[in-house]
Amino acid sequence: MTESDEALLAHSGAGQPVHVLCYRSRSLIEGPADRETSPVGRLIARAAAKNQRLGITGALLFDGGYFAQTLEGDRQAVQALFAEIERDPRHTDVLLAWELDRETRAFPDWGVCRIDLLRPDLRWLARDHAPPPGHTYTDGAIHDLRSMRLLVSVPG
Ligand SMILES: Cc1cc2nc3c(=O)[nH]c(=O)nc-3n(C[C@H](O)[C@H](O)[C@H](O)COP(=O)(O)O)c2cc1C
Repeated sequence: MTESDEALLAHSGAGQPVHVLCYRSRSLIEGPADRETSPVGRLIARAAAKNQRLGITGALLFDGGYFAQTLEGDRQAVQALFAEIERDPRHTDVLLAWELDRETRAFPDWGVCRIDLLRPDLRWLARDHAPPPGHTYTDGAIHDLRSMRLLVSVPG
């Protein structure tokens, strides 16, 4: 392996385990969540930009009342971001659902993959149907999204 290969590997994080954390929380944000300019839309746009800077990927699922979020990346970065998110006054009842290390990312292409369960094109997820043909979700993403969906639909 050449020096530049090693530098590339170190930068990409290849070979390093990916730390994955998933929590559920109850939203305190009022009003519609469907538009990019809504409070939830703005939160996600800002979060996606920051996650990209931190090398964190994942998904945020919202059903109108509850959030479920998966964060994946470097362990310290993920745990530090979660500590910040936990203190955010825009939600409450934050419940850490699982935390583990994996070989690969389930959401490699998304800083925040926004999944709005109220959207008709995502009903396959809410109903445990197969995803539509031509979708780009990894198997890991489908697995995580199904688990996250259970977290928001069984509050308590
Ligand atoms: C449900 C929920 C999910 C959030 N997810 C993220 C996230 O993935 N990344 C992020 O940077 N901030 C997220 N935030 C916002 C953080 O709590 C915090 O406001 C933000 O990191 C501060 O960013 P700043 O340093 O740019 O001000 C989330 C907040 C809530 C309520």
